[in-house]
Amino acid sequence: MGAPRDILEVRQFDRPFLEELFARADGMRAVIAAGGSNRLQGRIMATLFFEPSTRTRLSFESAMSRLGGTVLSAEYARETSSAAKGETIEDTARIVEAYADVIVIRHPEVGAAARAAAVVDVPVINAGDGPHEHPTQALLDLYTIRSELGRIDDLRIALVGDLKYGRAPRSLALLLTQCRNIELVFVSPPNVRMGEDVTAALAAAGLPHREESDLAAVLPTADVVYQTRIQHERFSSEEDYQAARGRYIIDAASLRSMRPDAIVMHPLPRVDEIAPEVDADPRAAYFRQARNGVYLRMALLDMLLT
Ligand code: NCD
Repeated sequence: MGAPRDILEVRQFDRPFLEELFARADGMRAVIAAGGSNRLQGRIMATLFFEPSTRTRLSFESAMSRLGGTVLSAEYARETSSAAKGETIEDTARIVEAYADVIVIRHPEVGAAARAAAVVDVPVINAGDGPHEHPTQALLDLYTIRSELGRIDDLRIALVGDLKYGRAPRSLALLLTQCRNIELVFVSPPNVRMGEDVTAALAAAGLPHREESDLAAVLPTADVVYQTRIQHERFSSEEDYQAARGRYIIDAASLRSMRPDAIVMHPLPRVDEIAPEVDADPRAAYFRQARNGVYLRMALLDMLLT
């Protein structure tokens, strides 16, 4: 595949695209070390965030700025943009297209970024559409695995926590279909198991997975333990949330049973699912993972806009 126009969901990526993107992301480390570049000078990125975000929005904005581009930001767009007056995402995108060369959208509705992409000519990047997908998070997650472990094949990966509403683990599971010899284990409270749409896609792609309720049984063999937050805001009842929260925690005892060369990842923000005592362990990769988001998004913006 050549450079895609939009970044909407993980199934649009193939292995050559990933290799090319990751190689470019590697190169962005040197660009930052050299004080940035002017490659995207004169180009404008608009971020429209209808849901809370720290990392995703700021790392996109940092990435664009590091490449010499300019940023227009509508944070809290649900409250402060014309959406509060009832404007559709299609109309908002049509307007913003006149102001920017690329639009990054986070929205609570599944398919919102795709709907925007359908009506504008500039590239649209899905920065999270409700509990559906978060493709750039999956890209930076796989890039992190490559940076940390030196490979994206031959891996035992445990996805832990809210696999039903968590768009990050959903997208990552789908992206792993591009990798070879992956052993995928899902560890989730029973009421937030991985959706059948994802498990069916994994089966169709020949990526087997199994479910395991005992996290302790998975830790000793895993190369990657990908922990996630229980997505409180997506539950319809507090009772259901309470049934899911606090069941799987990574702490110092978990680290003791893990391999010395394994890593702990998390898309962040965390609540209580990784104890702060884990942070000092070299296997805690989540802060490096967040940093990788800038390199990866620089590479992606560069690909889309040049
Ligand atoms: C994730 C998200 O928004 O889906 N955060 C992120 O983008 N790094 C995960 C989460 O909110 O739990």
